[in-house]
Amino acid sequence: MGRILRFPEGFQWGVSTAAYQIEGAVHADGREDSIWDVFSHTPGKIKHNDTGDEADDSYHLWQQDIDIMHSLGVKAYRFSVAWPRIFPSGTGERNEAGLAYYDRLVDGLLAARITPVVTLYHWDLPAALPGAWLSRSTPLAFVNYVDRITRQLGDRVKQWTTLNEPFCASFTSYAFGIHAPGERDLAQALQAAHNLMLAHGLAVPVIRANVPDARVSIVMNPASVQPATDSAADRNAARYCNGLESRWLLDPLYGRGYPTDMQADFERMGVWKESPDYIQPGDMQIIAAPLDLLGVNYYSRQVVAADPVQPEKPEFWRGVLPTNAPRTEFGWEIYPQGLYDLLAWLKETYAPKSLFIAENGASYSDGPDATGAVHDTRRVIYLHDHLVQLARAIEAGIPVEGYFHWSLLDNFEWSEGYSQRFGLVHVDFDSPDKKRTIKDSALYYKQVIAANSVEE
Ligand code: FCB
Repeated sequence: MGRILRFPEGFQWGVSTAAYQIEGAVHADGREDSIWDVFSHTPGKIKHNDTGDEADDSYHLWQQDIDIMHSLGVKAYRFSVAWPRIFPSGTGERNEAGLAYYDRLVDGLLAARITPVVTLYHWDLPAALPGAWLSRSTPLAFVNYVDRITRQLGDRVKQWTTLNEPFCASFTSYAFGIHAPGERDLAQALQAAHNLMLAHGLAVPVIRANVPDARVSIVMNPASVQPATDSAADRNAARYCNGLESRWLLDPLYGRGYPTDMQADFERMGVWKESPDYIQPGDMQIIAAPLDLLGVNYYSRQVVAADPVQPEKPEFWRGVLPTNAPRTEFGWEIYPQGLYDLLAWLKETYAPKSLFIAENGASYSDGPDATGAVHDTRRVIYLHDHLVQLARAIEAGIPVEGYFHWSLLDNFEWSEGYSQRFGLVHVDFDSPDKKRTIKDSALYYKQVIAANSVEE
């Protein structure tokens, strides 16, 4: 028997999803295309050319999903609102049917005593918005949407997250070509990142005005980075990687402006100049609007080495993993200690008032056996080992108030389509009713929630 690690009283045990990944019904009740509908319907962008057209059909099956969460004793549900259901063309006419859907969902959650935690933007930007995140009119359209939805739900929803992973919505989307809209231009990514953070900062006071007792957050995916060796080149590569994936967005959020070491790198690379036109006076103050808590997504760490041919150029860093490193089916290393390290780094660097783990999970394809059970033992172990690290972090004085597992359901995993399954609940995507089956990991999570503790 190991030591029993207890979580604080009232710890928020939750599960996470996102609209485009689970809802399906993409043209129901007036919803129009998002940039992800356009991207997924562009041949060659997504594995097997999968789309979110049907996904888990949670748009219709939401009551079943609430019943499942209730049966597991889940205390909170982090879901996202699809902006194109509320304003199908981004601005202009609002769509009452879309608002009514989230009314039903929120009421259903509250009836099951599950706290709704709403993400306002999880990447499904209305496709009709000209210029997408490269345009300064998009943050303004975002604020208009946020104003409407917080007025609608604010009497019942008190926990609000502005953006999910602005790093992915800018760099993965505009520099690496992997996410919608699929551009490969670092200068554009920096501009998109600025507009995303501006959208965040402009939205914070609007949420507070409409929901005076709101708890407001943003969800980031800062990297847990280590240099491969102690060499100056590897350490410089790790600095750059951490700068790009963590500090570039976190520093402005905490009122420090864009980090100067990264500005120098970007200037040398020709993608940045001092005070670019798209940054206007006052922007950095807006972005630094005080938050109640910081959401953190953690899946894996990064071990970073300099490029052997151009070691002086940290931007050509490579991820190197120890040989035989244990991995999930996605190929991501399983490194629970990285969660502790990341939380400790965040506390030391930014001292956030409070934190919550907004996502953590593992991709394994286990499905129902002959008896209908899903023995996803590897996910049980992943979950357990990460919760042990989380408990250690809390014990060490890091203020974490909740944990949300990614994900409630197997779902549309962006560029990977349906090939990567992250659910505590299995979904049969081929069945007409998108049959849900509770996995062993969900039953294990239920025990953890009931005990409010894990065994080391
Ligand atoms: C995160 C996303 C989430 C999910 C997980 C696996 O980057 O926020 O939607 O796809 O990865």
